[in-house]
Amino acid sequence: MAKESTGIKRKRDGFFAKMDKHGLALAYGNVRLKTMYTEVKPAEVILRTCFSRNICLNIPIVSSPMDTVTGADMAIAMAKLGGLGIIHRNMTPSEQASAVAKVKFYLTGRPIKKPICVNANSKVKDVLKTIEEKKYQFHSFPVRDDNEKLVGILTRNDFDFCINHDLAVNKIMSKELVTGKEGISAKAAFEIMSRSRKKILPILDSEGKLVGLYTLPDVKRVIMGNTDEYSLDKNGSLVVGAAIGVGEDAMRRMELLAPKGVDVVVIDTAHGDSKDVIETVKACKKAHPHIDVVAGNVSIGASALRLAKAGADAIKVGQGPGSICTTRVVAGVGRPQVTAIYDCEKKIRGSGIPIIADGGITYSGDIPIAIGAGASTVILGNLLAGTDEAPGEVLIKNGMPVKSYRGMGSLGAMETNKASRERYSQGDGSKEKLVPEGVEAVVPYKGPVSIIVYQLIGGLRSGMGYLGAKDIPDLERKADFDRIDSAGQRESHPHDIVITQKAPNYNETGRV
Ligand code: XMP
Repeated sequence: MAKESTGIKRKRDGFFAKMDKHGLALAYGNVRLKTMYTEVKPAEVILRTCFSRNICLNIPIVSSPMDTVTGADMAIAMAKLGGLGIIHRNMTPSEQASAVAKVKFYLTGRPIKKPICVNANSKVKDVLKTIEEKKYQFHSFPVRDDNEKLVGILTRNDFDFCINHDLAVNKIMSKELVTGKEGISAKAAFEIMSRSRKKILPILDSEGKLVGLYTLPDVKRVIMGNTDEYSLDKNGSLVVGAAIGVGEDAMRRMELLAPKGVDVVVIDTAHGDSKDVIETVKACKKAHPHIDVVAGNVSIGASALRLAKAGADAIKVGQGPGSICTTRVVAGVGRPQVTAIYDCEKKIRGSGIPIIADGGITYSGDIPIAIGAGASTVILGNLLAGTDEAPGEVLIKNGMPVKSYRGMGSLGAMETNKASRERYSQGDGSKEKLVPEGVEAVVPYKGPVSIIVYQLIGGLRSGMGYLGAKDIPDLERKADFDRIDSAGQRESHPHDIVITQKAPNYNETGRV
């Protein structure tokens, strides 16, 4: 059980104590890290960090559970970059579970453990109906008889050439079986598959029982891709998170997410220091102790401690810093993000429970600041929206390619999604009865997310080099700050010039 801060001291404590004395709460733009003696080269720093108690990543960057930021495609891309994607919840629980499954199946370094099989006597039309209903992305199945013995393989070709859907599966399946033995590596599986020109390879145990399945795209990814940087679970699958609400919604989603192998769930609410969230943390941990549970959002140390004591595996900090948030001006609440991160981290320091800085990251330099204030990872919305992997189409606005980016508490999101209404404790009334805490917007189209993350990581590495921080914990230990006023802020940006060439990591509005 998490205890109140154990008295561990940090360099930054003196700075924040002074600020607190004056009642000053600080945003990213209000501070800069002090440089220090260094022997550290930016290219050599280690960026490994923990998102939650049991989920560690190769880079401290996580994509936000927003419906214009993280679906399965973004989650796959983020895990391949060494980070993490949290699948949003403005979709039904079963759609969300399918999105998680898509990420988990994307890269199976090992055979799929429980392949979905069909019975030899089932009708083709019934199999097609199941594919449609369950939204399976594949059309290849091992076929078993009534004694569960493998008797054939059904592939997309068999469906394509079948003109009578009333036939039984055993009339159209291939009976020529090519199989692998339990324990076979992806490389050996690929060799058998290329020799026999089979796109799936059932794996049998010593008694001939089906115990797994390799698919061609999966083994090819493992063989061809350099997976060293990927965020992987112990089975070699990409790591993925999913957002849940509170109460029944949370439990229903978890029931469907757990069998798909979700690694971490994020209780995603605008105000995490509440009875509902605390009870949901406890219920989730009791029902699914092996799945990490992140709780939030909060901005006060005492709130972080309450969530930690309830059993949360990480605390998500951020009330109102987001680029599309209007909570601070609509409700008059919230806290500038650097102070919020510091206060929450200080209160649970030494507990082993990471702090996640959610929202308000405008420049790559805000990431070392967030970590220096006490965060282990950052969640990004705006900076990753507008990329190829974010949901939604590229639109043209004033001749410029853009993509939609909207707050989960915006009118549009709340009107169409119960989950968004719940996040902001709103009922199911008419449009006029909704009180938004976010806005709907567009952001420039940015191409592949890997380009954006490359620049963000480059900035973080550079910051760590200036501080002589060899890894993320070292940065967190060494960081100390200066507060800057408006003259310091002006001086921080390019000034007294006209920019003639856009830099890949800077523009005047702040976003990459
Ligand atoms: P950035 O700055 O990256 O922030 O765009 C993304 C984070 O903002 C939060 N979020 C909201 N906050 N009203 C709010 O007050 C909203 O409508 C809203 N939608 C998202 C969320 O924490 C996200 O990760």
